[in-house]
Amino acid sequence: MATSHAIGIDIGGTGIKAAVVDLATGDLVSDRRKLATPEGGRPADILKATRELLAEFDDPAGPRLPIGVCFPAIVKRGHTLSAANISDEWIGLPAEQMFEQELGRDIHFINDADAAGYAETRFGAAKGVDGLVILTTLGTGIGSAFLYDGVLIPNTELGHLEIDGHDAERRAAYSAMERESLSWEDWAERLQRYYSVVEFLFSPDLFIVGGGVSKHQEHFLPLLDLKTPIVPAVHRNNAGILGAASLASR
Ligand code: BGC
Repeated sequence: MATSHAIGIDIGGTGIKAAVVDLATGDLVSDRRKLATPEGGRPADILKATRELLAEFDDPAGPRLPIGVCFPAIVKRGHTLSAANISDEWIGLPAEQMFEQELGRDIHFINDADAAGYAETRFGAAKGVDGLVILTTLGTGIGSAFLYDGVLIPNTELGHLEIDGHDAERRAAYSAMERESLSWEDWAERLQRYYSVVEFLFSPDLFIVGGGVSKHQEHFLPLLDLKTPIVPAVHRNNAGILGAASLASR
């Protein structure tokens, strides 16, 4: 496979997904493979599962493709500094180095929402948009990425704003809708509160909504009343894979 390709691996609270990406077009050029995140999300188990997933892509006869890994935690200088929907054991670990050892080569390691934001800037809804774009992913947690004139400002963690006395993602992530069996309307009320606070605090020029549920955006985005335009991510649930792969090759 040509070197204009890279492997993106997106580690989440519920699943680990990977695919080969064409870096010129942002297309996935392999099947997207997925494993369930091991129960408890502990470091040794996630590292092992990631290695198993990667083995499905490596062609012994072909070039070793660059790898980008995105992860649901604050990532600073290769260390994981938080753990919301994975084991607390990740806090303070040199995660980038640990993945490099486990996978046997250099990787690029980044927060999952930041990877998705980067992907949307290069290949999606944030491409060419000036000013502040805030991408949020609505999944197990809420991830956020700030892009100012196309430049990523990492580790914003807006899923953990405290709103009405609650950690925002506990009430407004897609997992809250599932856990509490909310209707689209009930969930949209929570999203309305969430996005209104974020809008007031940061005056963005555009909101982008990612995560798997963005494919059902017609059930909730039209219910929101905001001053800021709000659109689904073009790459939905693949944005993390794409962003991680793109950053790996830089
Ligand atoms: C984590 C973030 C992550 C988001 C989406 C949050 O709970 O704190 O780092 O980006 O979930 O996975």
